[in-house]
Amino acid sequence: MIKNYEKYLDNTNFFDNTKNCIKGEYEHQDILSLEAFEKAKKEITSWDEYKVTPLVELDDLAKQTGVAKLYYKNEHYRFSLKSFKALGGAYAVANLLIEKLKDAGIDANSNDLLAGTYSDITNKITVSCATDGNHGKSVAWGASIFGCNCEIFIHNHVSVSREEEIAKYGANVNRVNGNYDDSVHVAAVTAEKNGYFTVSDTSYEGYTSVPKDVMQGYTIMVDEALKQMGEKPTHVFLQGGVGGMAAAVASFILETYGKKSPLFIMIEPNNADCLLQSAKAGKPTVVHGDLDTVMAGLSCGEVSLLAWKILEDKTQGFFSIPDEPIAEVMKYLATLGVVAGESAVAGLAGFNIIQHSKRYREALNIDSNSKILFLGTEGDTDSVVYEKMVGKTSSEVLKKA
Ligand SMILES: Cc1ncc(COP(=O)(O)O)c(C=O)c1O
Repeated sequence: MIKNYEKYLDNTNFFDNTKNCIKGEYEHQDILSLEAFEKAKKEITSWDEYKVTPLVELDDLAKQTGVAKLYYKNEHYRFSLKSFKALGGAYAVANLLIEKLKDAGIDANSNDLLAGTYSDITNKITVSCATDGNHGKSVAWGASIFGCNCEIFIHNHVSVSREEEIAKYGANVNRVNGNYDDSVHVAAVTAEKNGYFTVSDTSYEGYTSVPKDVMQGYTIMVDEALKQMGEKPTHVFLQGGVGGMAAAVASFILETYGKKSPLFIMIEPNNADCLLQSAKAGKPTVVHGDLDTVMAGLSCGEVSLLAWKILEDKTQGFFSIPDEPIAEVMKYLATLGVVAGESAVAGLAGFNIIQHSKRYREALNIDSNSKILFLGTEGDTDSVVYEKMVGKTSSEVLKKA
């Protein structure tokens, strides 16, 4: 199967960041830290139905690609939301409500919110955000379980099935003309006008506190993965939208392993490569256009400022890849009984392409000793698209497993 990927090399772009990649100690504890991770872990692991998601070992593919180990963290099983995003938005909603209660002189935790102890106060609060699907679903879910109102803003390319998934949690879903960044803008203006509290997964000048919570929630996923591996990876492939997931994973690993940290490799869609373009320019750089890609969760034109601070000098290589190999990787994982969505497989698709280039392998030190971690960030979060791409429903894939 790996041979099929050579043809995508021509349409793959690479920025070698080796020169800028500093093997120093982690210094961004003001953004994300192991200390704040412990707090997030205590809250999130106490929620109903929390369980560790599986780590899959792709031994056959490791053999085919000539590396020692390939590990795939399967976020299809994250709560009932089928994506790692469940950890971030919902955690930030809980923290926001806890903060508002503190302002009212009440010391609460997320279990008090789950029990509805202060619902007479929280049900007067509205949280809101722009989303291309998964983050909005997490915020809507958080609002429904922790007891507040929710307004979600989606853009033209968000599918109807994703819209329905969000509405299922009782959120009011508003469709905005334009791309993801347009929906961010409309959400911000509407929130300001109506007194909503924005729970965004991206940070910008003057808006950093909530996105820190969102990213810190994601670190639960990497803590689980490292424990399941029982060994340190040599490489971590990270797919990027605004960079929040990647920064969360990198921060946790960098603070844990310091100068002995693995190499981080970023994979983005060709049409939404804001992290690669920022790396090339040496500063946050906006990508314009409709950002259209089958990797819906990665369809972002602007990096998260805080995420960029963590990633800019710690990411070894930035790649952008075409959409074409995505369905092939989803189908391959389906043969193993793994339900993986379009954005989940970006890292693995990138790896399958990279293995055909001696130059890339050498730049990234990928060889027969490599033990590589992939974050399979979603299952069939868009079940209609999943069935179209894989030719089977997730239930059919799981039945076979
Ligand atoms: C499934 C999935 N994977 C990865 C990402 C990328 O996360 P970030 O935007 O934090 O870079 C997203 C973002 O929505 C996503 O939905």
